[in-house]
Amino acid sequence: MFDEKVHVLDHPLLQHKLSILRDKNTGVKEFREIVSEVAALECYEATRDLPLEDVEIETPMTKGKFKSIAGKKLAIVPILRAGLGMVDGILNLIPSAKVGHIGLYRDPDTHVPVEYYCKMPSDIAEREVIVLDPMLATGGSAVAAIQFMKNYGCQHIKLMNILAVPEGIQAVREAHPDVEIYVAAVDPGLNDHAYIVPGLGDAGDRIFGTK
Ligand code: PRP
Ligand code: URA
Repeated sequence: MFDEKVHVLDHPLLQHKLSILRDKNTGVKEFREIVSEVAALECYEATRDLPLEDVEIETPMTKGKFKSIAGKKLAIVPILRAGLGMVDGILNLIPSAKVGHIGLYRDPDTHVPVEYYCKMPSDIAEREVIVLDPMLATGGSAVAAIQFMKNYGCQHIKLMNILAVPEGIQAVREAHPDVEIYVAAVDPGLNDHAYIVPGLGDAGDRIFGTK
């Protein structure tokens, strides 16, 4: 259905956790925890191509050459607000990653993303970037955020979502064919308000308890 740049990570653990996120009776605390866990599990796949180098290590038995992540620099860039929910899960695995922030919200009538905040690490152009947002609906927010990162000079960008629909994936693939997409599930489509159906509702509201 999608090309090799789209990774649908349908591991049983991810599917199980996603079902808990979908459940309207899941409360804020559990929802937030599971978004973080899902992000960590996805990160495991999204960082599969990180380069390794040999390092000399002395074990209690002997000396030898072993693998260590080479000095490639990583930054994660959550799209505010909902992307913030994915940050901790990834930092638990990669504590040295730097974090940039992009504030975008979808205009409720036009569904066009509106920028309201941006703060990046000073060396962002030299870093491999993973843009984070649980939801890839029309794709407008992701396309704009990735363009933002390119305007900063970033050359290696990945997008990590929890839930997507085909039109959102297609929008990103068309606007940014170089960007690999990692997502835990792809739902059939959007409703009249551009919400994913069956989806999980408004991710930002469910993470922050604002509704
Ligand atoms: C949600 C979501 C994405 C965007 C996806 O954010 O977190 O950023 O919508 O929709 P799109 O693919 O059609 O652009 P929202 O605008 O609701 O802001 P919030 O995170 O502050 O709730
Ligand atoms: N943003 C959300 O939070 N949920 C959707 O279903 C679509 C956009």
